[in-house]
Amino acid sequence: MAGLLRFDGKVALITGAGGGLGREYALLLAARGAKVVVNDLGGDMHGGGKSPAADAVVEAIKKTGGTAVANYNSVEEGDKVVKTAIDNFGRLDILINNAGILRDRSFAKMSDQDWDLVYRVHLKGSFQVTRAAFPHMRRQGYGRIVMTSSPSGLYGNFGQANYSSAKNGIVGLSNTVSKEGAKYDVLCNTIAPQAWSRMTKDIYPPEIEELMKVSDVAPLVAFLSHDSCSDNGCVFETAGGWSAKVRLQQAEGAVLQRPFTVEDVRDNWAKICDMSNPHYPTAATETTMRIMPDLKKAAGMADEGSEDTNGGTGKTMEPVKTVFTNRDAIMYALGVGCGVTRTDLSDLKYLYEGHPDFSVLPSFAVIPPMNGVMGKVLSGGIGNLKEYNLAQALHGEQYVELKRPFPTEGTLYSEGRVVDLADKKSGALVVVNAETRTESGELICINQFSIFIVGAGGFGGKREAPNLKPTLPAPNRAPDASRQHKTLPSQAAIYRLSGDLNPLHIDPEFAALGGFKEPILHGLCSYGIATRHILREYCGDDVSRVRAIKARFSKPVLPGQTIQTDMWKEGSRVHFQCKAVETGNVCLSGGYIDLNNSSGPAAGSVGGPTDSLRSTAVFKMLGSQINADTVKKVGAIFQWNITKDGKVAAKWTTDLKNAPGAVYPGPPKGESPGCTLTVSDNDFEAMISGALNAQKAFFDGRLKIAGNVMLSQKLSALFPSNQAKL
Ligand code: NAI
Repeated sequence: MAGLLRFDGKVALITGAGGGLGREYALLLAARGAKVVVNDLGGDMHGGGKSPAADAVVEAIKKTGGTAVANYNSVEEGDKVVKTAIDNFGRLDILINNAGILRDRSFAKMSDQDWDLVYRVHLKGSFQVTRAAFPHMRRQGYGRIVMTSSPSGLYGNFGQANYSSAKNGIVGLSNTVSKEGAKYDVLCNTIAPQAWSRMTKDIYPPEIEELMKVSDVAPLVAFLSHDSCSDNGCVFETAGGWSAKVRLQQAEGAVLQRPFTVEDVRDNWAKICDMSNPHYPTAATETTMRIMPDLKKAAGMADEGSEDTNGGTGKTMEPVKTVFTNRDAIMYALGVGCGVTRTDLSDLKYLYEGHPDFSVLPSFAVIPPMNGVMGKVLSGGIGNLKEYNLAQALHGEQYVELKRPFPTEGTLYSEGRVVDLADKKSGALVVVNAETRTESGELICINQFSIFIVGAGGFGGKREAPNLKPTLPAPNRAPDASRQHKTLPSQAAIYRLSGDLNPLHIDPEFAALGGFKEPILHGLCSYGIATRHILREYCGDDVSRVRAIKARFSKPVLPGQTIQTDMWKEGSRVHFQCKAVETGNVCLSGGYIDLNNSSGPAAGSVGGPTDSLRSTAVFKMLGSQINADTVKKVGAIFQWNITKDGKVAAKWTTDLKNAPGAVYPGPPKGESPGCTLTVSDNDFEAMISGALNAQKAFFDGRLKIAGNVMLSQKLSALFPSNQAKL
């Protein structure tokens, strides 16, 4: 049957599966090919007694040709429960935390024992079993976890203080597990069911028995357990065949001006409670990011982090807009020496936008604020620095901190502010911080430029620059690793196309005026080369590992010379120094790159829920439409990179090679794609609906195809409108 969701090869563990809802999950998953561990200690619904209830379920599964084993441990012994799955089947793919008891009492009469027992089974039990299962799932890079909450947990209920708070705790547990598991494709969702079972039969009116059967809940739970379901960190209410996603809603709210009083809260109450313009945050940071600018304004603060010290103007400049595409990222990569040969394609991911892991070098983060912001700051008057000659301004040091992997294209806004102005007598040291954000306000990176203006000292300011990120000396030992890169004679000519058009780097006459024999290479070009060296040496070219880069520009390098990066690894910090091999001159000193300990979501990977993408629903729809016929016609696997705001927001696979065909999130499992298609979320939907001609999208550069382009012609078989011919 077309699109039948199977669980062949998967191992599922269901707690409390000796009866009620859990039994239905076990029967359904086993009937669809899963090997099932039926856990149940077989107690009564208040947590007492024991019985071999799980045996009967195992027998029922075996009778119909399925595979199952029983486990009688309490969920409080999570390790033992999970061990049964590993010992019998060697793996664990699906965990459904379902076991539960009730000990209802009015709040005033609730005993410690009522409280503790309910917590031990529901919240601690879910934790124990999940903790035991998680390492197996993480190691195999796959897992589906379903937790069981309750409408009582979401909304509260009379007589259920113990139960409702434990059930709400399970939502919190699920939220965190979903965040920690996402990058390993270990997804975790929660259901809040209602069904006629021994647990509820005394509470519900009799007609519920017919209307809300335990078997009605099982299909939703099975879908959440299937690899075609990419929802993560979500809560679903379900009863009698009705299912609905539930999410938190947050008012726009009000930010009160400091100093504020209780009366200010009262006077703003309507605004605080006004739900007419709601937000739906899925992470605490989303809210922090959203309110931060208003909080700063209310607190009379101009900028994040660093204090405005004497001499700094303190004022934030108008944001500078940068629209960039993957061409700019590629141009930058060429500028810092990326290249490919027939035998070495390691840099292809920085040079080819169709590469499945197309990535932007982290040091590219210096580019957006480089020109606009620095020009504005330096020409707009700097604190009490009266007279200065911009021709005497030297770029002394550079620091950049990345909040996430740099997007591959998009519109960014950079805001700069002088945070220090130090009087160094021979000159003025100006330290400028620049924050770069997306249009939606997400902070992408913070740059710090330190500029030394020769001859501008003696203006009577402080000598120190307390906000300057320090350079750090390398450890006193031979380098742990060294890499070399021979720059091209035209390296500066290429690098300048990323925006620093100073003639010093291209015009021999201009360079001579500055006292140089010939045009010199941009210091930031060496900075990019050093970043590449460290990325390759210590990060396996995973750009998400780079958190911050700092270095001082010591001496110039000439285009054509060889840059050697010496590296020292100390924990999560790599110290570095660069020199020109031909002269021995150190060109970058005191440098370091701070690494994220584990790789974060790559620019192109799904970091969180994808349900905000329009394409998610379309892929799910496609999944239900493919059949053996489609597979026969097409015979190929396609990977889709769906972009949003310039970065890859989701990856999907349409497997039209292996019968019966499949559509699932993420890159192809076990096989390389025949071709990879990269397209924005909106354009994908428009293509599928026929509103956008796919061929035109391809020729306009809106649809990018890598790999065997001819294969994409066959995709029209998949599109229901058949207008989306490639
Ligand atoms: P049930 O009582 O039929 O099933 C619960 C199962 O968990 C029982 O078979 C029991 O032996 C087992 N169990 C209890 N403690 C255990 C432990 N420490 N270790 C292993 N197994 C244990 O009840 P039902 O209705 O099937 O409930 C399943 C889950 O759904 C529970 O978590 C419950 O709180 C939840 N739920 C059910 C609702 C309903 O309307 N039936 C409403 C909201 C939530």
